[in-house]
Amino acid sequence: MAPSGSPSRIVVLVSGSGTNLQALLDAIAEAGEEAYGARIVAVGADREGIVGLERAERAGLPTFVCRVRDHGSREEWDRALAEAVAAHQPDLVVSAGFMKIVGREFLARFGGAFVNTHPALLPSFPGAHGVRDALAYGAKVTGCTVHFVDDGVDTGPIIAQGVVEIVEEDTEEGAAALHERIKEVERRLLVEVVGRLCRDGYRIEGRKVLVP
Ligand code: GRF
Repeated sequence: MAPSGSPSRIVVLVSGSGTNLQALLDAIAEAGEEAYGARIVAVGADREGIVGLERAERAGLPTFVCRVRDHGSREEWDRALAEAVAAHQPDLVVSAGFMKIVGREFLARFGGAFVNTHPALLPSFPGAHGVRDALAYGAKVTGCTVHFVDDGVDTGPIIAQGVVEIVEEDTEEGAAALHERIKEVERRLLVEVVGRLCRDGYRIEGRKVLVP
């Protein structure tokens, strides 16, 4: 990760309310950057006007927005996103509710150092509707998965998972309540995983993520 001793540099990508970002900010503020092992150096988004960006601004962090529609093609957007992230020289990039699939250029630069959090127990229920799909399937447990990003949709090596029970009161219409319960677990897991990766380092061997 970062040169030994100094906190790792993290860029966080968001698309929404940014509660996972906030959990990281709070954990780093509470522990201190040295003890936590990382600091957030910038927050990027694929859209304007989201609470996630407000949280970053409130924390005094540089932000950037890279919108697909401002670019001639998906490839150009992907290159622009990679450049915007690279400008902050991150050791680790965290997708915390970033609702875009990155492309080849981004993965060429940050693959192996790009972490995502997904609200289901992968490999079940990948994609944008992980919570709703688990409910519709009739699963009895679901949860969240923190994983490295590869060139598939939510298919990269798994770092850690947290389990949440689905109860009878969880209806497909009430997916938001289940998602909130998942997010409570997810925030704690993300904070724990990012800290461990930054403090202890890691190796990815095939599908296995090894943290010493
Ligand atoms: C999380 O559940 C994440 O897994 C999903 O979107 C949610 C983002 O929440 N992709 P927030 O923006 O961090 O509050």
